[in-house]
Amino acid sequence: MSRSASSPLSDAVPWWRPDPARTLVIRGGRPLRGTYPVSGAKNAVLPLMVSALLTPHLVTLHNMPASLDVAVLAALLRRLGAELHWSRTEAGLSVTICADQVHPVRIDRELVARMRASVLLLGALLARGGEANLPMPGGDAIGLRGIDFHVAGLRAMGAEIELAGGTIRATAPRGLSGAEILLPQPSVGATENLLLAATMARGTTIIRNAAREPEIADLVACLAAMGASIEGAGTDVLAIAGGRPLGGAVHPVMPDRIELGTLACAAAITGGELHLRHGRLDLLGAAAPLLAAAGVELRPVEDGLMARRAPSGLAGVDIVTRPHPGFATDLQAPAMALLATATGASMITETIFEQRFRHVDELRKMGAAIAVRGQTAVVRGVPALQGAVVSGTDVRAAAALVIAGLGAEGETVLDGLDHLDRGYDRMADKLAACGADIRRAG
Ligand code: EPU
Repeated sequence: MSRSASSPLSDAVPWWRPDPARTLVIRGGRPLRGTYPVSGAKNAVLPLMVSALLTPHLVTLHNMPASLDVAVLAALLRRLGAELHWSRTEAGLSVTICADQVHPVRIDRELVARMRASVLLLGALLARGGEANLPMPGGDAIGLRGIDFHVAGLRAMGAEIELAGGTIRATAPRGLSGAEILLPQPSVGATENLLLAATMARGTTIIRNAAREPEIADLVACLAAMGASIEGAGTDVLAIAGGRPLGGAVHPVMPDRIELGTLACAAAITGGELHLRHGRLDLLGAAAPLLAAAGVELRPVEDGLMARRAPSGLAGVDIVTRPHPGFATDLQAPAMALLATATGASMITETIFEQRFRHVDELRKMGAAIAVRGQTAVVRGVPALQGAVVSGTDVRAAAALVIAGLGAEGETVLDGLDHLDRGYDRMADKLAACGADIRRAG
């Protein structure tokens, strides 16, 4: 495994290996062909791992992505007292988490600061032991990313929460109680945090305007396997009858729909054809018809999807990011890289995060013609992109630049490899196995 050295990580995660590489070097223009296995979902696996803190029994997760975020969360869970046993079979990576002991205040500040999803520890630790003490979570710099919905929801359930000096101190001296909560926006993280807490609260919790992302339904399926009673998965109203002791579970992590969409763009921009193993059209929501309109053919086959550029070529489309089932904000940057060489213009509007166009300047260095006004980018397709030295400033920006590099003429050198590694399981290795000229370098 690749990655930068960090001792808490290599202690916690046996598949972790320090890797001095800081850049990816891509020689573009080679059509991708072969099978690309889509990994377990980055944004499903983190709440699933945290759910193991709710029970002293064993929770086994299959189809684990070997990503940096997973390694960081594994190290955080170990620090809290959980034991993690990893195994690898032909079917992939699995982990069994045993949290029979949880020490809620033993938090590694540096690790929490690396990852937004660490805020989910708040709901789980409050539910399990009535106390949590966390630094404010970190994560990609893509917008304001407040935690006010999380805090308001947990307070409605009886938690006392103090935010001071960059620390969140939360207690539930009388335990948590069910509540009716209306989210101001369908926040993915707040829905997950409140779900985790509500499974152990006394009485029924109703979450209205809940997020409907498939990762929420995956968390609900795992919590249900642990014995929780939750209705409404996939809708915007979740009803949780809390307070039952939770048992263990065995759960396969859902396929990563963002990796799926990203690799479909990669197949199309290179003029190749990929079998995206484990891919499913239903996971893509509004992205499926929009990608089709842009000239990305996706055809269901056994155990996945075939992806290639339509014979008519790539065409500009208009995209507005929205909560699921709308077009995913996490696919906005990869789609922009694809549309940079489409015939005609595309208008891309980002409505979820305020600062999610940081890939634009980098794509321009490669010759893309993109004008930004407020939250909208107008992309005028150019005949070809040129390789350049570029920097990936967040997980999806980095993925977008990989796609651009694969489709470009000449050599692209991408730094910000840690961002890519946070969210993708060995992306460069998997691309190389499909014929890409791509290597990690110092
Ligand atoms: N928001 C608030 N207050 C809150 C919570 C959210 O104002 O208390 C705002 C956010 O600032 C944002 C909007 O609500 O403008 C939606 O944020 P949400 O809470 O849904 O996002 P998140 O839970 O922080 C997850 C994913 C993101 C993904 C978004 C939207 C994880 C670990 N992260 O973030 O993934 O973009 O949902 O789908 O699940 C990525 O994978 O690259 C990534 C950033």
